[in-house]
Amino acid sequence: MTAPASQIPPAAERRTDQPVEPLLDVRDLTVTYHSGKVPVYAARGVDFALAPGETLGMAGESGSGKTTVAMSLLRLLPAETTVTGEIRFRDEDLLAANWGRMRSVRWAEASVVFQGAMSALNPVRTIGEQIVEPILLHEKVGEKAARARARDLLDSVGVPSRRIASYPHELSGGQRQRVMMAMALACDPHLLIADEPTTALDVIVQAQILSLLTDLVRERGISLIMISHDLSVLASTCDRIAVMYAGRLVETGPSRQVIASPLHPYARALAGAFPTLGDPGSRLAPGGLPGDPPDLREEIDGCPFAPRCPEVEDRCRSGVIPLVRRGDRAAACVHVTGYDEAVGDG
Ligand SMILES: Nc1ncnc2c1ncn2[C@@H]1O[C@H](COP(=O)(O)OP(=O)(O)OP(=O)(O)O)[C@@H](O)[C@H]1O
Ligand SMILES: [Mg+2]
Repeated sequence: MTAPASQIPPAAERRTDQPVEPLLDVRDLTVTYHSGKVPVYAARGVDFALAPGETLGMAGESGSGKTTVAMSLLRLLPAETTVTGEIRFRDEDLLAANWGRMRSVRWAEASVVFQGAMSALNPVRTIGEQIVEPILLHEKVGEKAARARARDLLDSVGVPSRRIASYPHELSGGQRQRVMMAMALACDPHLLIADEPTTALDVIVQAQILSLLTDLVRERGISLIMISHDLSVLASTCDRIAVMYAGRLVETGPSRQVIASPLHPYARALAGAFPTLGDPGSRLAPGGLPGDPPDLREEIDGCPFAPRCPEVEDRCRSGVIPLVRRGDRAAACVHVTGYDEAVGDG
């Protein structure tokens, strides 16, 4: 069994010479949407793990599959979607769990702050009622205790607890986003997934809220997956970074190393284009890259980045280019040292 999140020291304080059982271990995750006329191959063979208390930033340009991967973890994708692979969370494969079990995992063990969450609050209910609801639903506590916890949570996210009886429209955008964070933390989850939690806010408020969020999860030993198209945000707030391209995870490793010496040519282009915080242009492709990302309505043969890659070789254009591990880093590129040995052994 994994220890309760509250007993696990933050990643920075743990000894790194001791192997830690991952809280989340995702293997060969493949997601295909069937909602349109043709299938969309939105995630292909995605592998990553998250240690207890670790913060992982997921980067990649618009349409690369970040939300798809994040939402698949808690099975929050539309019904016409095929998801295969393994999502091991606290020793349980969530892809094999029934819906009753998934309902109890959501909020209580893992929670999500959605992309565009500001419109997710119910306009006709007070913020206090909305924070109290998951607590009453998932825990054996009375109304009074739940309300006291809601007040504490509001204080901890920087919204004065006297605002507990306010309606969402009475708060600023930044305050509403803080309320969403309080709701996500309400049941003391082990994992929090934050999908572009601050994109709609102005730059200064964005930076404040993201650093508050990472402080809160670190204090509580909660693991965090934070999605952003903004690599500079992720570099300054997360222990590790995972880079997605066209539905594949192309590189993962400690944030500083991925930024300073990216292994995959796409990660290099992304890091080279290092966007300034809040720059709306950074949602688009990194500057200087020719061409567009591939159409995900077609199955991709070879490396999805090959058509745009300055270092492309013939062998990049067919087959599957697997993620090759190098210490605590990994990249899916034929030029990574040890690629041939790893693929040969595999
Ligand atoms: N419900 C759906 N049905 C069909 N295709 C979808 C659906 N949701 C997403 N897609 C497609 O899947 C691909 C990945 O989308 P996803 O939303 O995961 O990207 P993203 O990396 O989160 O992008 P962004 O940065 O814009 O939020 C895109 O090509 C998108 O058009
Ligand atoms: Mg998204």
